[in-house]
Amino acid sequence: MPLNIVVGITGGIAAYKAVSVVRSLVLAGHDVHVVPTESALRFVGRPTLEAISRNPVHVDLFEGVAEVRHVAIGQAADLIVIAPATANSIAKLATGLADDLLGNTLLASEAPVVVAPAMHTEMWRHPATQANIATLRERGVTVVGPAVGQLTGSDSGPGRLEEPEVIVRAALEVAARHGLDVGAPEARAAASASDLDGVRIVVTAGGTREPLDPVRFLGNRSSGKQGVAIAEAAAARGAEVTLIAANLEVDAPGGCRVERVSTALELRAAVLAAAEQADAVVMAAAVADFRPADVSDAKIKKVDGQERMSIDLVRNPDILAELGASEHDGTLLVGFAAETESDPERLLELGRAKRRAKGADLLVVNRVGWSHGFTADDNTVTVIDAHDRVAAEAAGAKTSVARVILDLIAERLAPGTGPTTKDTPTA
Ligand code: C5P
Repeated sequence: MPLNIVVGITGGIAAYKAVSVVRSLVLAGHDVHVVPTESALRFVGRPTLEAISRNPVHVDLFEGVAEVRHVAIGQAADLIVIAPATANSIAKLATGLADDLLGNTLLASEAPVVVAPAMHTEMWRHPATQANIATLRERGVTVVGPAVGQLTGSDSGPGRLEEPEVIVRAALEVAARHGLDVGAPEARAAASASDLDGVRIVVTAGGTREPLDPVRFLGNRSSGKQGVAIAEAAAARGAEVTLIAANLEVDAPGGCRVERVSTALELRAAVLAAAEQADAVVMAAAVADFRPADVSDAKIKKVDGQERMSIDLVRNPDILAELGASEHDGTLLVGFAAETESDPERLLELGRAKRRAKGADLLVVNRVGWSHGFTADDNTVTVIDAHDRVAAEAAGAKTSVARVILDLIAERLAPGTGPTTKDTPTA
C-alpha cells in the first residue's frame, strides 16, 4: 500500500530542491500531495509540482471549501514532510498557527512530521528559532539537518537544506518506525529501515566524572548528544543497542538497553562486558584520561590562608586501545577523536595517528572548542578508515551525522550475522 505523504514546501530558495524530494517519494511508490505556501510558489511553479507529484496542488485556504480541504489533506496523511522549512514556518508550526493551507493541514493531522530546516546561519542560530526547534523536537517532530555548507549568498555555515536523498531516507525511517509500510523492498532498503537488523551494537555516550570527594568531580563538556543520536538511529535500523550512558545531558532514547555509569572505570567494566557479545562498539563517550589518585570520604575543606592546591592524578585505562589490542575478532571498533586543532590537515593527521594507536577500524574526527563540538546540536566530522583513508565527511545535525556513521558501520557488517567485510587495520 502506498503511503499518503504530504510534502509541505515553504518559501525559501531551497524550495527548488523539494522537487527532488517529491520525485523520490513518488518513484518509491507513494501518493504524494504537495502543499506549498504562497511564498514557496515564488520559487517553484505549481505546474512543476503537479507534474512531479502526479497530483493537483492546492495552496488557497478558500478553495475546495465544500470538501473541507483545510482539514481533509492533513486527516488523510500518513506522513508529513516539510522541506524546506523556513524560520518563519518553523515558528508558525511551533506556535500552532493555521493562517494558510499548510498550517491547517499540520494542525488537522496526527501523522508523524519530518521537518528539514533551511535558512541563513544567523536565523538558524537565533534563540527564537532554536527554542522553536526544541519545542518541535519535544513534540516528537523529527528534524533533519540543517547541513553545514555553502548558503545562497557568499556565506556558508549551518543552514543549508539537507540533501534530498537524506531527507527522503529520514522520512521513510520515521514512517517505518511508526509501523507504516514504507513500500517495496527497494524503498525499504533506501530507507535503511532495517539494514542493521539483529546487529548487536554497544554505544558509549556522555562524559565520565572522576570524583574528588562526595560533592566534587573532574568532568568534561560532552553532552552525549552524538552518542545518543547514534544509539537511537541504530535501534531504528533494527540493531540491538546497548547504550552505556555516562552522565548524559539528554534523555536516553527508547529501544535501547541503557546502562548508566559515571567514572571511566565503571564505563570500562560495562564496555568490556558488553563488547564480548557485540558486533560493533562505538566509543562516542569522552572518557577522562586521568582520575584523582585519592578520593576523599569527606568534603575537602580549604585551609585559612591557602592560595593554591594540587590534585594528584593517576592514569585511567584507555578502553578503546585495550579493545583494539585485544582479540576482538569480529567486533568492529569505532573511536572518536575530539581535537582542538584548527588546521584541517593537521586535524586529519592527528586522527590517523590516533586510529593507529588505538587499533580502531573507524575513527570519527571532530574539532571541538569553546563554542562548537561538545554541547552543540550540530557536528562536522571526518571519518578515517582502517587504511587511513577518509571514508566519509559529514556535517549537520548530530542525527544526520549519526546516519552517515551508521552507513559506514552497516557497510562493514552483514545484517544479522556480524561483520564479514571488516577492514584489516594497517597497524
Ligand atoms: O585519546 P583520546 O581521549 O582522544 O581518544 C578518544 C577515543 O578513545 C574515544 O573514542 C574515547 O571514547 C576513547 N577513550 C577510551 N578510554 C580512555 C580515553 C579515551 O576508550 N581512557
